[in-house]
Amino acid sequence: MAQIALPKNSRVVEGKAWPKPAGATRLTEFKIYRYDPDGESNPRTDTYWVDRDDCGPMILDGIIWIKNKIDPTLTFRRSCREGICGSCAMNIDGLNTLACTKAMDDVKGAIKIYPLPHMPVVKDLVPDLTRFYAQHAFIEPWLHTETPSPEKEWKQSPEDRLKLDGLYECILCACCSTSCPSYWWNGDRYLGPAALLQAYRWLIDSRDEATGERLDALEDPFRLYRCHTIMNCAQVCPKGLNPAKAIAEIKKMMVMRQV
Ligand code: SF4
Ligand code: SF4
Ligand code: FES
Repeated sequence: MAQIALPKNSRVVEGKAWPKPAGATRLTEFKIYRYDPDGESNPRTDTYWVDRDDCGPMILDGIIWIKNKIDPTLTFRRSCREGICGSCAMNIDGLNTLACTKAMDDVKGAIKIYPLPHMPVVKDLVPDLTRFYAQHAFIEPWLHTETPSPEKEWKQSPEDRLKLDGLYECILCACCSTSCPSYWWNGDRYLGPAALLQAYRWLIDSRDEATGERLDALEDPFRLYRCHTIMNCAQVCPKGLNPAKAIAEIKKMMVMRQV
């Protein structure tokens, strides 16, 4: 898989090199981005050594080990540790991915970890996702109906339900949007691949009755049309989804409603 170059930031300097754990024989080197809004020497990369015989195999295991055994100030998000919550997304070895599903053995040499690119950093590996979530809210990710609610549930045929495969599995990790060059440069106006994949998920839901209004909201030079099919989004998605294809389908729907 192609590696995505990190945006150059000449201000990131080499930080503290922590001592190797005493007595350990199998070690893995981590180089981790550090930023403390109230601290000094910002930003920098600190070097740590993880004792592989005292630690689980995944990169998240390594980061948790560092926090518990070496440096309690290291800050990151995580919850499920099994690729479901999306909170441990970060840039590892030049690629956005989930720390809990990437193995240390899959990285050659020192494991370099940065926060998701081109987002404001709250602290260390924690990006500010306020705008990302606002964009998700903008596409109104819930069922819109006009007909009176049925007594029980809104029904859907198995065939129509199948159309949501490849879309509903999104865990909102933001790996795709933060790997998208168009989103880097126009993230304030372009909705980005994650929000647009979800927009498509609701556009093609057979139970939804607001297709026209949903398309109207996307008919804008920036919100939808800044996707240039660069495909970084599909390359990095840890759930194997293809936001670029969903975006192309929305563009087709835009064309079809005009003929
Ligand atoms: S295909 Fe579109 S959304 Fe995906 S990375 Fe490229 S420009 Fe961004
Ligand atoms: S489409 Fe994939 S990469 Fe993008 S937010 Fe959803 S799960 Fe993450
Ligand atoms: S901790 Fe939940 S996806 Fe990694």
